[in-house]
Order: sequence, then C-alpha cells, then structure tokens
Amino acid sequence: MAEATSAFRAPKGTNDLLPPDSWRWREVMELAMGKVFPAAGYAPIETPIFEHTEVFERGVGAGSEVVGKQMYTFPDRAGRSLTLRPEGTAPVMRALLEHRLERGPLPVKLAYASPMFRQERPQKGRYRQFWQLGIEAIGSDHPATDAEVIEIGFRYLVRTGVTPTLLLNSIGHLERSCRGGYLETLAVYLRDRVDDLAPEDRGRIDTNPLRTFDSKEQATRLVMDEAPVISDHLCDACAKHFDEVRSLLTDLGIEFTLDPRLVRGLDYYTRTAFEYVAGGLGSQNAVGGGGRYDGLSESLGGPPLPGIGFALGVDRIVLASGDREGGAVGSPVAVYVVALGTEAGRAALRLATELRRRDIGVDLDLMGRAMRGQMRDAVRSGATWAAIIGQQELESKEVTLKHLAGGEQRRVAVDRVAEIVLEGES
Ligand code: HAM
Repeated sequence: MAEATSAFRAPKGTNDLLPPDSWRWREVMELAMGKVFPAAGYAPIETPIFEHTEVFERGVGAGSEVVGKQMYTFPDRAGRSLTLRPEGTAPVMRALLEHRLERGPLPVKLAYASPMFRQERPQKGRYRQFWQLGIEAIGSDHPATDAEVIEIGFRYLVRTGVTPTLLLNSIGHLERSCRGGYLETLAVYLRDRVDDLAPEDRGRIDTNPLRTFDSKEQATRLVMDEAPVISDHLCDACAKHFDEVRSLLTDLGIEFTLDPRLVRGLDYYTRTAFEYVAGGLGSQNAVGGGGRYDGLSESLGGPPLPGIGFALGVDRIVLASGDREGGAVGSPVAVYVVALGTEAGRAALRLATELRRRDIGVDLDLMGRAMRGQMRDAVRSGATWAAIIGQQELESKEVTLKHLAGGEQRRVAVDRVAEIVLEGES
C-alpha cells in the first residue's frame, strides 16, 4: 500500500469512531434503541441536527453555560440564526408542539440516539461532538413517571456493564413559595460572603445564584458547603411529589443518594433532578443526567405540559463499561468463504450472495490472498464458520465447512450451507 498521510485532521474535540470500537458503540446504541427503551413504550424520534437558535435560548435558557458559552451558532445564507443542537430535550419539545403530539395519548414517550454539539474544552469523556441516548415522557406530572424514567436509565446502564450511582434531588418549582423564595435566601447568603467567592462566580449572585453550586472553584465550593439548600425550602406540593418519587424508587429496589447540592446545568429543570455517575471517568464522571421540566412547553409557547427525561453520554458509557474481549464484538459475520483459485473465487461470491440473501452474515476474500491469509482473515472476521471451496469441492458442488472455534470440519453440499448455519444459530 502506498504511504500517504493526509494533512487533514478531524476538528478538535471530535472523534472518528473506528472498528473494532465502533462495534461496541453500535451494541450500546442498539441495546437502548432496539430493546430497553421501546420495551417500556418509548418510540424513536429524530429531530434536525440544527434548530433556530431561539429554541435553545428560550427552551434551555440564555443564562445557562451551554447556551451562553458553548453553542455552535451561525447565520445561514438568508441571515437566520441557526444552532447545532447542544442537547435533545428542547428540540423534542419543539417537535412535539409543532406536530401536536400532545393531542394523542399521554404521556408522549419518545427516545433518541443523536449527536450533540458543545464547544467545551475537550478532555477525556468531554468532546465537542458527542452522542446522547435519551428518553422523554411528556404530559404527566405523576411521580410514577419520574420513577419509571429513572429506573429505565439505571437498568440500561447496568446492562451495558456500567455500575452507576444515582444522585437525586428536587429543585422545586419556580413560584415564590418554593424555589423563587429559596433563590432570594441563597442570594442573601452569597451577598454576605461575596468576598469569599472566587471572583468569576461573584456575578452569578444576581443572574443565576443556583449555578454557584456547579462552580469548580475551590473558594466557591467552600462557601457552597455551608449554603442553604433547596430541599429544605420546597413548597408542600413539591415536597410531597419528591417523597413519592423516593418511595417509588425504593419500591423498585433502586438505590439512590440524596444530593441536596445537585442543581443541573440547564435552566428548564423543575422538581426532580438526577444524575448517574460512574467510576473510572476522572472528572467527567456523569454518564447521564436528567430531570423534570414542567415549564419547558410554555417557554416554547405551548400549553402546560409537564415532562421528565434523561440523556446518557454514549462516549462515556463506552469508556466506563470497559474493554470487552475479542476485537470483533458484535460483528454480524457468521461465515467466511475461503476460495482457492479463480473458478472457486466465482463460486465463493455466488455462495456469499446466496447466504446474504437469506440474511446470513458473510464475508470473503477480495484481495486474491493465499489460503493461509484467507484463513487468518476468517478468524479475524469473528465468523463462526469457514466455508472452504477448492478444486474438489467445485467439482462435487460441495464446500468444506469448518467450525473455527472447535476445529472440526466436514464436506457438505453447497445448497445445505445455509440450513446448517441457521441451525447452529438457533
Ligand atoms: P446534560 O447533563 O447536559 O443533560 O447531558 C447529559 C449527558 O450527556 C451527560 O451526563 C454526559 O454523559 C453527556 N455529555 C454532556 N456533555 C458532553 C460532552 N461535551 N462530551 C461527552 N459527553 C457529554 C442534557 O443534555 C439534558 N437534555 C438531559 C435531559 C433529558 N433532561 C431531561 N431530559
């Protein structure tokens, strides 16, 4: 092969997902979108990769870090401001409202597996293009919805091999009797200690005091350790809702850790807020997070429609669930056809095509390799069987079918190969 290295590199913070790792990635995606999510009634949704910028400004909140500092926003040729989506919840709500899905049975249950874009400082587990798996249940404020959603994310993560810890909090609703009043209390507390806060956090007292809980600055963190917490200031209705969510989770055998300082980074959250964290990821230890967003529909101009959901970071799940054995995990190749000579090569392509028409995964040599090279490729492909065609097999319309793991082999008629392979799979 010629030595040619392109001068181009993928943009900073983006990843090329290459085999064999891409198999693991596919497996993780399919477990969610093909099994766990639909089995609980969540139907797939795809929204555009870009939206009108206002969807995020109004939906997620212009004061959040994600909207204020991390969005890829650009004018199109007609001068409209578009944004590569940094998250999936606001677009899903926009689509639901646009297509009036709330007129159907409630809650509307939707699931997505999509790339998201945030211009963050890249590091392990934090990228500028990353994939999220998410579900949203929209139209119910019943605590059973919270418990259902949280349990699905937890069980899915366990099945991928991640051992999640569930952090749980309630951040109340926006009225003065609840979070509204609490924010005033928090602002008073912070104003009293403004000199102890890290300088970059001081401006938040008046704009978004809750965000000071997310600060990475040591000085601010010390102040926040003593700060009043929202869970002590919930109104009766929010406190009751949260009690019920905890009790239902306990009922389902889901362990959680109450974290009164968990506030989440997006402005649409109300009431239940949660995160799944996992070891082995360094500082980016959140494999997923979510919560209620009971006011999101209205901030996009829709009717009152309470909702709850989560998003899980696929890149982080793959990192946290560790390496699996065998390069070709998930490879769907069941048979590798090995051919000796030109005539056998034609028969090999014919056999491969016949098997593929019956949905059997087949690969074969396309480089004219010698027998040894083809057998090595057969093993590498992850196939269960090698179907070998030489001169003798050609003449008798047979193949030598070799079980690659066990080593045993036998001659079988070409037109019986499919039957034998399918029998072995069932
Ligand atoms: P989020 O906490 O911003 O929530 O993101 C959810 C998950 O996406 C994170 O826990 C993390 O695993 C992954 N993630 C976020 N940013 C990055 C990044 N730069 N690189 C790699 N992975 C990342 C949301 O996005 C909400 N929409 C979740 C939600 C759905 N809430 C209600 N429904």
